Amino acid sequence: MTFPYLFELPKIIDSRGNLSVVENHKEIPFDIQRVFWIYDVPTNILRGGHAHPNSEQILIAVHGRFSVTVDNGKKHETFMLDKPNQGLFIGNNIWREMSDFSDGAVCLVLASKPYDPTGYIRNYDDFLNS
Ligand code: TYD
Repeated sequence: MTFPYLFELPKIIDSRGNLSVVENHKEIPFDIQRVFWIYDVPTNILRGGHAHPNSEQILIAVHGRFSVTVDNGKKHETFMLDKPNQGLFIGNNIWREMSDFSDGAVCLVLASKPYDPTGYIRNYDDFLNS
């Protein structure tokens, strides 16, 4: 199982404003089936706190900054996302928590599966036993 990793996305630098882009199976190692974004997060709020047995995701800080702590049950690591041309790949069965959102931060999530409310493990002990 691949541990989450940060990777660089293309950045097309332009005096008119920069542009970043992703395509399925190019920068993204799966077919994107869903896109959602988290924003207007108050200070000191923790988002996430769950794992998905069957949904890979890529998180991008399209604006502002936030931290993501990922945990595979054996080790954990905290990544700080603060660049719109950087993605954090999170594979299946990874516990994740997002915190320390800056004012105006926007967390864009590209997911490999449609929304499925049954596709969550929300209890950490259940996650460890899964
Ligand atoms: P959730 O994934 O629980 O967010 P977080 O773990 O960051 O708190 O989702 C919050 C709410 O949004 C929950 O009621 C389900 C709903 N939701 C959808 O309807 N579709 C989606 O694709 C997602 C991600 C969430």
